[in-house]
Amino acid sequence: MASMLVLPIVRLGDPVLRAVAQPLDESVFGTRDLKRFVKAMIDTMRRAEGVGLAAPQVGESIRVFVFEAKGAEPPVPLTVAINPRLEPLPGELVEGWEGCLSIPGLRGLVPRHPAVEISGFDLEGRPFARRAEGFEARIVQHELDHLDGVVYLDRMRDFSSLGYLEELEREAEVEAQAESETEGP
Ligand code: NI
Repeated sequence: MASMLVLPIVRLGDPVLRAVAQPLDESVFGTRDLKRFVKAMIDTMRRAEGVGLAAPQVGESIRVFVFEAKGAEPPVPLTVAINPRLEPLPGELVEGWEGCLSIPGLRGLVPRHPAVEISGFDLEGRPFARRAEGFEARIVQHELDHLDGVVYLDRMRDFSSLGYLEELEREAEVEAQAESETEGP
C-alpha cells in the first residue's frame, strides 16, 4: 500500500492565501517531485474530506489544484489541474453553499457561474479541456480563486447567510458541501 503524506493546511490570515500563485514551468511537468507533491495534495484533500484543494492552501504558491467529489450527483472524478484557466459559459450566476478547508467550520452562499470551460495540464503535462457544470463548476471556480489570492468570502454578496455549519444545520438543511470544501470548495 502506498504511503500517505498529509500536509498541514494553512488558514485564513496566512499571507500565502492572499498571494497570486506562479505558473509552473513546463520543465517541471511530469517530474517525480511534482507527482509526489500532487499525491500529497490528493491525500490531504481526502483526509480532510474536502472536494478541492489548491496548492497555496498547503503553503505552495504555484498554480495547481486538485478536486474530487465522489458523492456528488453526478460524481466529480479526481482531477489534477496545472496552470488552469477558466472561461465562464453563458448563464446567470447561481448561489450555492460553500465552505473552505482554510476557513474551517463556516458556510456561506456564494454566486458562481453555472458552467465553465476548464483547461490546463494534467499530471503528465498533457493538455486537457472540458466543460464543468453545477457543483463541479462551483468547485473549480472556488479553487481557481485560491490561485489568485481570493477566498469565497470575497465573492459573497450578502453576509447574512454566513454561519457555522453546526448552527446552519440546526436551522435548515445546509448541505455539508463545497471544499468542506465538503466544505465544498
Ligand atoms: Ni477553499
